[in-house]
Amino acid sequence: MSQLVGARLIGVGAAVPAAVVTNADLEKLVDTSDEWITTRTGIKERRVVSEDETASGLAIDAAREAIAHAGIDSGIIDLIIVATSTPDNLYPSTACMVQAAVGAARAAAFDLEAACTGVIYALAVGQQFIGSGTFKTVLIVGVDIHSRFLNWEDRNTCILFGDGAGAFVMQATDGDNEILATYLRADGSGGHLLLIPNTGAAYPHAGTTPPKAMHRFLHMNGRAIYEFAVNAVPEAVKAACARAGIRVDDLDFLVPHQANQRIIKAVAERLGMRPEQIVSNLDQYGNTSAASIPLALRDALRRRQIVPPATCALVGFGGGLTWGSAIVRWTAGT
Ligand code: ACO
Repeated sequence: MSQLVGARLIGVGAAVPAAVVTNADLEKLVDTSDEWITTRTGIKERRVVSEDETASGLAIDAAREAIAHAGIDSGIIDLIIVATSTPDNLYPSTACMVQAAVGAARAAAFDLEAACTGVIYALAVGQQFIGSGTFKTVLIVGVDIHSRFLNWEDRNTCILFGDGAGAFVMQATDGDNEILATYLRADGSGGHLLLIPNTGAAYPHAGTTPPKAMHRFLHMNGRAIYEFAVNAVPEAVKAACARAGIRVDDLDFLVPHQANQRIIKAVAERLGMRPEQIVSNLDQYGNTSAASIPLALRDALRRRQIVPPATCALVGFGGGLTWGSAIVRWTAGT
C-alpha cells in the first residue's frame, strides 16, 4: 500500500466587518445588561455586517490574508472548501465565488455545512485529499454572518453571535505530517436544539416572506447546547489525541470554538489544561460560528500567545449536532 502524503498548515487569515456592536448597544434593543452578558458568556462586543456586506466578501478577504500569509501564488491552489451555514445563495457556492475572486484558476471548489464545526470538517476533508495524493494545496475557509438570521428582539440568542471569516492554507509536505489526527462526530437526533428553520427547500413558498410564526430566525435551547458542549468537546479532544498517539498533556494549546467563556473554562478544567494554554478572543467577536477557530488562532499568533512550533487541539461543536477536533502541529511563522 502506498504511503499517505503528509499535510501541514502553512497560512492563516481572518476578516471581520468594521461595525462593532457592544453590550451597551444591545441594552438598547433587549432587556439585558453588560454585566449579565459578560458574566454569563464572556462576550463584550461583536462585529456585524452592514447591508451591503456579504459572507462571500468576508470569505474572500480572509482567504486573501491566508494566501498572503502562506506566501503562495493562488494559481497553485487545487481545492477550495468553504464551511458556512449562511451562504450568499443556495448556489453558486460561496467556494466558487472565492475561487473566482482570488484567481485560483485551476481549483475545484465546494461548500460544506457543519455549523460551528464546519472548519474542523473542512480540515479533515482537505487532509484526505492531500493524504491520498489527489491534491497538493487546499484553501479552507469558515465564514458565517448569523446576524442576518438573529431575532434582535430575543435576548436569549441575539447577544451571542458575531459575523466573521477565517481561513487556512493546507499543503502536502515531504517532511513530517503536521495534521496529526482528526476526529468527527454527528448526532442528528439533536438537530432541533439549534436550528434556523424555513431557510431551505422544505419551506414551500419560495419567493414569499414566511409568516411571523415561521420566521427564519436562529432558535436555540441554550441549556441543552451548553450541556452537550461541555461533554462533547473534551471527548473530541481526547479521541483526537488518542488517534494522534499523544496525551492531552502533550498539547501546548487548545483552540476551541468560541461560543461561551464558561464552556471554554469548563472544558479546559475537564482536560486539565492551564488558562494560559487556552486561546480565546470571544470578548471581541462573540460566536462567529464556522469562522471562530481560525480567527482565534490568527489572533493568538499575532499577540504571540502561540509561538511556533506548537501542538494545538482545534475543537468545534455546533448545530447538527456536530462536533470534532483536529490535532495540528503549527510550525508556520506569525
Ligand atoms: N440578558 C439577561 N437575561 C437573560 C438573557 C440576556 N441576554 N438571556 C437569558 N436571560 C435570562 C433568562 O430569561 C433566564 O431568566 P429566568 O430565570 O427568569 O427564566 C435567566 O437569564 C437564565 O437563563 P439561562 O438560559 O438559564 O442562562 P444560562 O446561564 O444557561 O446562559 C446561555 C444562557 C448564555 C445561552 C448559555 O446557556 C449558553 O451559552 N449555551 C450554549 C449556547 C451556544 O454555545 N450556542 C452556540 C452553539 S454553536 C453553533 O453551532 C451556532
